[in-house]
Amino acid sequence: MTLPDSPACNLLGSKLPLVLAGMGGVARSELVAAVTTAGGFGFLGMVREPPKLIEREVTRLRELGHSRFGVNIIPASTDPALLERQVATLIALAVPVVCTFWTLDQQVTRRLRDAGIMVVHQVGSVDEAIEAVRSGVEIVIAQGREAGGHVRGTRAIRDLLPEVADAVNIPVLAAGGMATGADLVTAMALGASGIVLGTALMATEESFAHAYHKQRLLAAEADDTVLTSSFHINWPPNAPTRVLKSAITSGARGDPHASERTVIGDEEGRQIYLFSTDSPLRSMTGDFESMALYAGTGIGHITAITSATDRLTQIVAEAETLLAPATASDEQVELASSVCYAGEMSGAYMGEADLTDDLWLLAAQMRAALRTALAHGADPSASSQPPFAAKSATLASWALQMRRLAARESQGAALPPHPVISGKLPAQALILQALGGLIPRISRPALRDQLVQLRLFLEAQGPAAPV
Ligand SMILES: Cc1cc2nc3c(=O)[nH]c(=O)nc-3n(C[C@H](O)[C@H](O)[C@H](O)COP(=O)(O)O)c2cc1C
Repeated sequence: MTLPDSPACNLLGSKLPLVLAGMGGVARSELVAAVTTAGGFGFLGMVREPPKLIEREVTRLRELGHSRFGVNIIPASTDPALLERQVATLIALAVPVVCTFWTLDQQVTRRLRDAGIMVVHQVGSVDEAIEAVRSGVEIVIAQGREAGGHVRGTRAIRDLLPEVADAVNIPVLAAGGMATGADLVTAMALGASGIVLGTALMATEESFAHAYHKQRLLAAEADDTVLTSSFHINWPPNAPTRVLKSAITSGARGDPHASERTVIGDEEGRQIYLFSTDSPLRSMTGDFESMALYAGTGIGHITAITSATDRLTQIVAEAETLLAPATASDEQVELASSVCYAGEMSGAYMGEADLTDDLWLLAAQMRAALRTALAHGADPSASSQPPFAAKSATLASWALQMRRLAARESQGAALPPHPVISGKLPAQALILQALGGLIPRISRPALRDQLVQLRLFLEAQGPAAPV
């Protein structure tokens, strides 16, 4: 396993830094169980669900032998009396973790924490993340505007995530368009403790989404999605959703905010209205094309309905492949003979004392370079694009490796705050300068080899590259 350590995994008790989003209707016990079995962590999506269903789903998970899982509720979109019963039920069931979303409900957070339940909260801004920490939340999810479903934030995850990670001292998970191993590596390089998967796990055999919705996801690309306020019934105002474009989002089915209500479907006797936030589920009948077909901008990477295990396994395999070249141990490097880079291989090293600060500086510089490259690779005029430019994945894996090296070198010492990087020189020149001073000081073959490889990688980008 070459994935970096994840403080979120330690808190949640999962093996992999992959978290199933608490998708209302879609994330039921079958999907949570599949994700948990595969090593991830899952939230049951229980927004506005009656306590009976919460109890049934939690009991099913426990009967299957799962003890580490969470439940998602959304206080702002739930009738206060029902919310009260939901919270009482979660406490009575002693569920280990609860995830909340939209506005933070201080009272609900406190009651859950007082009952010994870990609270995770999904935020759309740095201010909301700070408010969450102050209220006792233990993990925040930073949600970028690339996300499927309701979208709280207005910013791209590549900008929001590093700012949230710098602003709070608790683990941060990244959400919004995540679908690949490259997304996992990039998010972790920007400071995330793992990623949250919504759409990518909705398109699985175990999800409770209706087959119609799953099939519609398969042919779609990022720019087939749109942020819209057309689907609003059941929710507070000003709550945009990201969905697949349809006759509803183009306005062909009329004014979503007109007062008359049209029934377009049924869920076990409950009427589904046109312009409501309900998405097609296995338990529904009706005009699915007119419902909210939620999808995030990672959708272009989803080309088949697979098992949840296969989806998670593929993401991990991709991430491990990206991280593999730079994770050799000293022994492996000696056997395989390290990359030869004349100046650095003279053996005339100058002593390894106090490498820690230099490696931290290098790690911070690499993260800054990654941020620049991601901003460069993005089309500022496009509102629906995948979260990270694929070509930045190698740079992200290097940034992650440098962070890991720095952490290893400091052997548990307190992490220094990220130093301010001078804007006067381009990042690439700064990093090459730092490497030039660092490499000759290192005697350990594996460490020196990694830094030499990094230098070769950066030089291969050419002097005009944004790194
Ligand atoms: C079908 C669907 C339903 C969702 N329902 C909820 C919900 O009930 N509660 C919640 O906190 N987030 C919900 N979300 C948002 C997710 O928490 C998460 O931010 C999002 O799925 C991440 O983006 P992605 O779908 O591109 O992975 C939903 C997302 C989708 C796709």
